[in-house]
Amino acid sequence: MRRLAEVLRQTSLVRYLGHLEEQFPTGHLKDLLIDEVGPDRMIRVGDRWVVNFGSDSFLGLDQDPRVHDALLRGIRRWGTHSGASRAFASIRSNAEAEDRLARWLGTEAALIYPSVMLANLGALPGLVGRSDLLVVEDQAHHSIQEGAKIARAGGARQAAFSQEDPHSLEHALQQARPYRCAVVALDGVSSMSGRLPPLAELDAVARRHDAILYVDDAHGTGVLGPRGRGIVPEALGSLDNVLVVGSLSKALSCAGGFIGCTGEFKRLLKIRSSTYIFGGPVPPPYLEAICTVLDILDSEEYQPLRDRLDRNIRRLTEGLARFGLAVLGSLVPIVCILVGGEEETLEAGRLLFERGYYVQSVAFPAVPYHAGVLRIQVNANHSPEAIDGLLEALVGLRELISPPRRPVGGS
Ligand SMILES: Cc1ncc(COP(=O)(O)O)c(C=O)c1O
Repeated sequence: MRRLAEVLRQTSLVRYLGHLEEQFPTGHLKDLLIDEVGPDRMIRVGDRWVVNFGSDSFLGLDQDPRVHDALLRGIRRWGTHSGASRAFASIRSNAEAEDRLARWLGTEAALIYPSVMLANLGALPGLVGRSDLLVVEDQAHHSIQEGAKIARAGGARQAAFSQEDPHSLEHALQQARPYRCAVVALDGVSSMSGRLPPLAELDAVARRHDAILYVDDAHGTGVLGPRGRGIVPEALGSLDNVLVVGSLSKALSCAGGFIGCTGEFKRLLKIRSSTYIFGGPVPPPYLEAICTVLDILDSEEYQPLRDRLDRNIRRLTEGLARFGLAVLGSLVPIVCILVGGEEETLEAGRLLFERGYYVQSVAFPAVPYHAGVLRIQVNANHSPEAIDGLLEALVGLRELISPPRRPVGGS
């Protein structure tokens, strides 16, 4: 045991993170332990209450009593877990949740996985094999990159294209011909910048080259497009050349991930996804709650909720623009301020925390080296006062760490 720990301590990532921890014993803010959750996104960490700007529960539905009731109903109906892989048996709530998801999304079928990470790790290698091509957006989420590694180990060829450049996709597909099938995998909303890809152009390129798109819309689910159906219906109108991956754990405040597809693809993915077969499913209470959440998204309540979220995003981004801070993304609830250096990024996070605001300070290796960002996750249940307070704290911070003031684009 000791020998293995010694060896692991020598790996470059462990040494690098150890160095950061030594340098910033109080500023690192990773592995945060939250002791209590209060109203309006307040959290208590030790003896300090701060506003949490690090939650993916964008619509605030994690606090909705109807969702809580559904979870309790699920436990009473099914107990705490299913106790078997879905390859053997699924509970009725699973089938109901999948049918309800498909109806909401506008696809023929949907397949639920325990998480989006496991959807990508299972589905991507399941979709491509020898003679096929997987083209991966260079900034795509870690789960897509890891899924691609497994696909490669299984014999698929891999190419890359640049996040916002349809020409680079065209080039990658052209260079890789001939192939039997090609799948183009990308994020619907970049999780680290909040940027949106030029989906219509990428789709046109993919169609010209007989490729299909695989869009991981984890952060777009619930907050983009009509009734929160995500970036694909919004940007393309139709889902007929796309496999859409959505999250149940972020705006939908349940647990899991899903793929919206045809009935035929659902059958194929069940057989071809190792993470579906060789692991347990989403626990029953969450399956029960999915239908409740989708009822809210399909009701008249949704638009006011989305309006409140959009107002909060605007309040924050307009404030940031007034102060000349370099912002990445501004249309979705992930708003990132480019800071740059690792030290400055971690220090900025610490200072904000001291002033009563928790935001994620994201440094290498989650983002490229020296491209550290403060990642602010805006929620519908943030109060306008909290957003104004965060802006004020950021202004104070600007004097201390001087992040670049030039806008660096944004979607
Ligand atoms: C684009 C993207 N894909 C996948 C994930 C992982 O999702 P999950 O927590 O459901 O595994 C994330 C998480 O932030 C994400 O941003």
